[in-house]
Amino acid sequence: MSVTGPAADHPLTLADYESAAQRRFEPDVWDFLAGGAGQERTLAANVRAFEETRLRPRVLTGIGRPDTEVRMLGRTWAAPVGIAPVAYHALAHPEGEVATARAAGPAGVPLIVSTFASRTFEDIATAATGPLWLQVYCFRDRATTRKLIERAEQAGFEALVLTVDTPRLGRRLRSERARFRLPAGIEPANLARGDYSSPSDHAIAEFDPSLDWSVIDWLRAVSSLPVLVKGVLTAFDARQAIAAGVDGIVVSNHGGRQLDGAPATLEALPEIAAEVAGACPVLLDGGIRRGTDVLASLALGADAVLIGRPVLHGLAVGGQEGVQRVLDIVTGELAETMTLTGTRSAAAAGPELVRPPTLPA
Ligand code: FNR
Repeated sequence: MSVTGPAADHPLTLADYESAAQRRFEPDVWDFLAGGAGQERTLAANVRAFEETRLRPRVLTGIGRPDTEVRMLGRTWAAPVGIAPVAYHALAHPEGEVATARAAGPAGVPLIVSTFASRTFEDIATAATGPLWLQVYCFRDRATTRKLIERAEQAGFEALVLTVDTPRLGRRLRSERARFRLPAGIEPANLARGDYSSPSDHAIAEFDPSLDWSVIDWLRAVSSLPVLVKGVLTAFDARQAIAAGVDGIVVSNHGGRQLDGAPATLEALPEIAAEVAGACPVLLDGGIRRGTDVLASLALGADAVLIGRPVLHGLAVGGQEGVQRVLDIVTGELAETMTLTGTRSAAAAGPELVRPPTLPA
């Protein structure tokens, strides 16, 4: 058997889960999940950036068992890994986000619930035993946005993650060519009834394209929860975010689904981490498929990473258990990689792990 599969009966890696999952989706739904914007250059770059990264191990460090735990906004995560907000988990499994929440809790990792979740915030919160954060799209109708935030806060959600890279939806050509419509019964459970069958049409009608940094003050006025921004790709915007008083930054290009031609997130990370310099947590998502990708991200300045599509792959293959397996694989690989590189803790991972230090003249 090759190292990359096929291994549908006993998936060992996230890549195994991806190939097992693909067989379970209709082709147009698969393309909606897997695809990116434009020519998918950024989608490919996210993965390639990790593939091209080499780790520089240190030996005889005496570290024993590595410690994968991290503290994030007052909570301890079992590993520096969370679940990125992905719309409509019911596309992958009838229980949708409820099954995902049941998996995240025991794994000790947080779930960021999309504005376009296919189960209600209240049902997800009932199923959850770990931290839930709400991903916020700011609609033209601020009252609708405010109501979503209030409901999530009431249900016990612990933070808001404002997505800032989506003044409109990127053009996902696979879906455009297939004239993709959401399957019957797949709807945003937390929004008023309406026609959401074409994600791009709906986004154009509802998303506020004129947002600026003052939206952070508005979020602070309507909620007491910490506010993170998701979709920052430059040091300049990281500085703006800090000045606006955010509690965290997610370096993200939306899994290659927005600006095609944007940098891979691993490429964007170092300048952002340098600018932030510890002022708030920095998270990264896009293309994380192995424990080595997590460690490379930590080495270049992330405090934690988020994974998107692989969670839906696990959900499609095995519901709650499938998601649990995906999380176990990635966190297990991280611990293994930390052991093999002599990295005692997440905080101990520095740039020397991936880059040769500059030699003295
Ligand atoms: C997303 N993503 C996303 N982001 C967001 O802020 N709100 C959302 O509702 C969604 N929905 C969504 C649906 C689907 C099908 C995908 C694939 C992605 C982006 C997501 O949070 C994250 O940035 C990327 O998925 C991370 O990249 P990987 O891990 O999928 O490579």
